[in-house]
Amino acid sequence: MTKQRVIMDVDTGSDDAVAIMAAILSPDIDLVGLTTVAGNKEINFTTDNTLRVVELLGADVPVYRGCEKAMVCTLLHNRHGDYTGATGVGTKLDAQGRKIEYHTDCLPLPAPTIREQPEHAVFYLVDTLMRSDGDIVLVPTGPLTNLAMAMRLQPKICQKIKAICFMGGGFKVFNATSASEFNIWADPEAAQIVVTSGVPVTMVPLDATHRANFTLDDARELRSWNTPAADLVATLVEERVAAYNAFQPQELPDSAPLHDALALAAVIDPQVLRDVRLMRVDVDISGGFADGQTICDTRAFPDRTPNVRVALDADRERFVTLIKSLLRSCPAR
Ligand code: RIB
Ligand code: CA
Repeated sequence: MTKQRVIMDVDTGSDDAVAIMAAILSPDIDLVGLTTVAGNKEINFTTDNTLRVVELLGADVPVYRGCEKAMVCTLLHNRHGDYTGATGVGTKLDAQGRKIEYHTDCLPLPAPTIREQPEHAVFYLVDTLMRSDGDIVLVPTGPLTNLAMAMRLQPKICQKIKAICFMGGGFKVFNATSASEFNIWADPEAAQIVVTSGVPVTMVPLDATHRANFTLDDARELRSWNTPAADLVATLVEERVAAYNAFQPQELPDSAPLHDALALAAVIDPQVLRDVRLMRVDVDISGGFADGQTICDTRAFPDRTPNVRVALDADRERFVTLIKSLLRSCPAR
């Protein structure tokens, strides 16, 4: 079977890291390139973290640094409230007095010796997609700035993208504000450009990712394998469970979502997603209370053409088993 060619656009990030590892380890995916964007952390950290993950797995995947700021959203006065205020991140300390965070600045891996590519991520996306046979799937797992910029720079890429499967948005579940999910909230105009691009889009929102959590038991199992890749994921799961227990307690006790890994897993095995519905989705870019909300039209006869497949649920067992099997394939120390 031919491998699916994929470009990931990441703001690495603990859950982005697991998604990248799964893509590199999957026999079904040819990871053509990684582009980075500011999001979870500023661009120096997200790029450096991406290089750390690629080097950990000894993969030959080029990394391209992308946009350090959202397209236009910060131009609107007072638009961005304090995300940390919304979630309480940084206001709680663990028993050792360390700040509890979803993502540390640097992943717990050695500083990279490999280097990023000289070309900007947006130009890389345009060049690579235009030269392609239309066979590349894009998996964005951060704010959609790079992709929207590429679409504005060269609209013809939209006919060249096979599909987009992005992590972001919410149907009934939100995190950045009471109405928005972080990746979309961070650059709502970019998200609106992408969902209305005409490319086949699958949205993997919080409603799905919160149904596919990893638990501390999963982390213990990964740790017992004693491989660098499984060890890293075990550590990230533990950190994330601490953060979710502190700020967003989950229905499944001592568990946390690995949002981005679910979007990547859906390219390998679409059945990790459940209850996928084609809907009209637009992003609120008004700057009001619902700024950055992914507005999903559930009416039988929406005013505008349905444009996004929205996953409302996920198969936790299937997802966790897939990620574990990929990590299992990684050699021991
Ligand atoms: O809301 C979850 C998303 O925000 C994930 O992509 C996570 O990495 C952060 O970017
Ligand atoms: Ca991310």
